[in-house]
Amino acid sequence: MSHLTIPQLQQFKSQGKKISVVTAYDALFTEIVEQAGLEVILVGDSLGMVVQGKPNTLAVTMEEMLYHTRMVAQTAKRALVIGDMPFLSYQVSLEETVRNAGRFLQAGAVAVKLEGGMSVVDRVEVMTGFGIPVMGHVGMTPQSVNQSGGYHVRGKDEVEAQKILEEAKALEAAGIFALVLECLPTSLAHTITQELTIPTIGIGAGSGCDGQVLVLYDLLGLFDEFVPKFVKPYAHLKAEALQALKRYKEEVECGKFPSDSESYQ
Ligand code: KIV
Repeated sequence: MSHLTIPQLQQFKSQGKKISVVTAYDALFTEIVEQAGLEVILVGDSLGMVVQGKPNTLAVTMEEMLYHTRMVAQTAKRALVIGDMPFLSYQVSLEETVRNAGRFLQAGAVAVKLEGGMSVVDRVEVMTGFGIPVMGHVGMTPQSVNQSGGYHVRGKDEVEAQKILEEAKALEAAGIFALVLECLPTSLAHTITQELTIPTIGIGAGSGCDGQVLVLYDLLGLFDEFVPKFVKPYAHLKAEALQALKRYKEEVECGKFPSDSESYQ
């Protein structure tokens, strides 16, 4: 079984085939995502919130991202694995950007993702110039949460909408192979999708994008501390896990577990 390639992924757009992307952070869930046949796995820095229990993504380090990327990449046989560049891994200098992106590829990712518009265009040009595939991310960018003051919809007024459209075009010209559009009005995301030749992957950006991405733990109903409007939980695994653990505790306490069938004679 061979991995989906970036050129194959890009053909989805011309073929009108929607792209399904989800995050994963470990081998077990990667295997499930693979069995379900999703095309792309993003090892997102969202792991700072859903795995590490931090209030935002800012504290996630390169070493932590590489640790999770290795687990996902060694397990994925078909899906295209993208490593999410954490805060401070690409902001400081072009040199650090290339080195850190290269480390993601050495850990098994096929591409990297970074957040931002005009401020990262030079980073994208240098990385793609060295053969490192890059996915962009505009709109609501979680690593800028302290500047923006929260996780709000972007591009609601004409001036900001135009700015985001221009960022998307500049990133495409710089060489990104796909672009995440986060928390944008449906009409703006649709316009950007029409204007670009590369695939757009929406999260809270409506149905007009070429694909969709969700955080796995949101999709499975495992993370319920903060559920944005755009999340659709396709399962309620936290509730099921809670029930299972309560039953286990009760059965241990009353001596029902282990029974003969879970014991050696
Ligand atoms: O970190 C992440 O999971 C992401 C996606 C939500 C796009 O950046």
